Amino acid sequence: MLDVQGLGIRFGGNHAVRDVTASLPAGQITAIIGPNGAGKSTFFNLISGFYQPTSGRIVLEGQDITRLKTHEVVGRGVARTFQTTTIYRELSVLENAMIGHRVRTKAGLLDALLRTGRERQDEAGSRAGGLRALERVGLAGQAHLSAGALSQEGQKRVGIAMALCSDPRLLLLDEPAAGMNPEETVNLMALIRELVAGGLTVALVEHKMSLVMGLADRILVLHHGQLIAQGTPEEVRTDPAVIEAYLGGHAHGGQMGQAGVSHA
Ligand SMILES: Nc1ncnc2c1ncn2[C@@H]1O[C@H](COP(=O)(O)OP(=O)(O)OP(=O)(O)O)[C@@H](O)[C@H]1O
Ligand SMILES: [Mg+2]
Repeated sequence: MLDVQGLGIRFGGNHAVRDVTASLPAGQITAIIGPNGAGKSTFFNLISGFYQPTSGRIVLEGQDITRLKTHEVVGRGVARTFQTTTIYRELSVLENAMIGHRVRTKAGLLDALLRTGRERQDEAGSRAGGLRALERVGLAGQAHLSAGALSQEGQKRVGIAMALCSDPRLLLLDEPAAGMNPEETVNLMALIRELVAGGLTVALVEHKMSLVMGLADRILVLHHGQLIAQGTPEEVRTDPAVIEAYLGGHAHGGQMGQAGVSHA
């Protein structure tokens, strides 16, 4: 689905992502893990066009998308959620989804802000698109509640619905289970499985190892911006370099995943 070759970005002297060559296979769930500051969110920012790489290539289904802008990458079928929830708490669940639809489809952010004729025309389309996305995440029944009234899990679902509005084929989820209790996490895992069963390819960054180990087909491990291991959950779990990355120099208590317990 997506291949990156020698991908890197430098901020001043800091290589946030360095020479990463990896694939996100179609129809699979790929998890990207690594200690805090490893470059996971930056990796997503590169793939989704938020950052321009200082080296390497990004190839989506055989087409080079390295230099494309965010909205162009969205247009090619790649959507993302953000590590920090970006919903509008005082608006309804449906209004949030509709904003997702407006920003991510034809009208574009500028049109949405300026309320151009094209944007007004798209109002009905946004409503329909927003409702469709809410159905996919199981929130159709809560469409008219204010988004701030939803649980953490519900709010994360709204964020996913907003991303689904552009009808992506590849969905990037940055810490989708952050702040969720174990039961909510299990529900979210079921939703992600459903989306993949429906044909979506998913890549996710997550600290919660129960989710990563229970959901991922493959795992990429970043450490100091570099890919230090990749493989199945079982392969990665027992990889000495991975264990060292999580144990060495990190004051989170040792075990993989403990970094995520307090990570909201
Ligand atoms: N816009 C930026 N300007 C300067 N440095 C940046 C920028 N974005 C990220 N970095 C740096 O890149 C490194 C990787 O950050 P990143 O946010 O990708 O880590 P992460 O793996 O997502 O961590 P976390 O698990 O805490 O979310 C950090 O050293 C960070 O300070
Ligand atoms: Mg991050």
